[in-house]
Amino acid sequence: MYKTLHTDLTDNIFTITVNRPDKLNAINKDVMSELGEVVTEIYENKDIRSAIITGAGPKAFVAGADISEFQGLTREQGQALAAKGHDIFQRIAASPKPIAAAVNGFALGGGCELAMACHFRLCTPNARFGQPEVNLGLIPGYGGTQRLTQLVGRGRALEIMLSGRMVDATEAHTMGLVNYIVVEPNELLTKTRELLSIINEKAPLAVAKIIECVNQAAGDGINPDWIAEPFGGGHVNGDFKAHPGFIREQEAFGECFGTDDMKEGSSAFLEKRKPKFTGK
Ligand code: COA
Repeated sequence: MYKTLHTDLTDNIFTITVNRPDKLNAINKDVMSELGEVVTEIYENKDIRSAIITGAGPKAFVAGADISEFQGLTREQGQALAAKGHDIFQRIAASPKPIAAAVNGFALGGGCELAMACHFRLCTPNARFGQPEVNLGLIPGYGGTQRLTQLVGRGRALEIMLSGRMVDATEAHTMGLVNYIVVEPNELLTKTRELLSIINEKAPLAVAKIIECVNQAAGDGINPDWIAEPFGGGHVNGDFKAHPGFIREQEAFGECFGTDDMKEGSSAFLEKRKPKFTGK
C-alpha cells in the first residue's frame, strides 16, 4: 500500500494515480520514493503487462516538484534531488513494459518530465504542459532539458524552457509532445487502456526490445540488462548509465541552489508574489 499513490491492477494494466490533489499532485519526497517502489513493482510483477500514470482530481496530472521542499537545500542536496529523480524517471523510460501517461490537466516541471519519461502520452483538452522552472531561478532537474529536446526539437524546447510558458493540448499534439487528445475528459483512462490492451496482445519480449532500441536511438540513457521471465516478471541486472546531458543537468540543477535568484524565485512562488531576480 502506498501513502501518496493509488494503484489498481485490472486486466494486466497497472494504473498509478498520484494522489495529492490539494497540492495539484506535486512530487514531494514521499511521492518520489513511492514512484521508485512502484516502478520496481512494474518490473517484477508478472501480472503487470503495461502501466498508466495519471493524477488525482480534474485539475492536474502533476504540477511539478514540491517547491516547498526546495527551501534551504544546498547545492549538493539540490544535485542529489535531481540524481534521485533521474534514476527513477530513467527506470520508467527504460521499463520493458510500456508505461503511458494519461495527462488530465497541468503537467508542469517535474510533472511534464514524468509524462515525458513515459513511453507515450494521451491528454485531455484542459492539459497544460511546460517547464516553468526558469520562473523560480531554476532549470528542469528530472530530465526535462534532455527529453523535451528529444520530443519536440531544439528550437521549440529552448523557447518553451527559456520562456517558462505553458503549452496547451492542441499545441502539444501538433508538436508531437502528446500522441492523442481525448476530447471527453472522463474517457481518458478508457482510451489509454484500449491502446495498452492492443500492445498487451503482442509478444512481451519483442515489446521490451522495441522500447530498448528506441531509447538507444533517442540517447535516453543506456538500458541495463533486463532479466526477463515468461510473461513479464523480471528484474534489472546492472546500473543505469546516464547520457552526459543528463549528468550535466543534475549538476546545473544543483548549482542553481547556490544562487540568490533560486532562493528568491521559490520564496516568491510560496508567498504568491512576483520574483525580483538580480543575476546572483
Ligand atoms: N509545489 C508545491 N505546491 C504547489 C505546486 C508545486 N509545484 N503547484 C501547486 N502547488 C500548490 C499551491 O501552492 C496551492 O497550495 P495552497 O492551496 O496551500 O496555497 C495549491 O497547490 C493549488 O495551487 P494554486 O497555485 O492555488 O492553483 P492555481 O490554479 O492558481 O495555479 C498553477 C495552478 C499550476 C499555475 C500553479 O499552481 C503553479 O504555477 N504551480 C507551480 C508550477 C511550477 O512551477 N512547477 C515547477 C516546479 S519545479
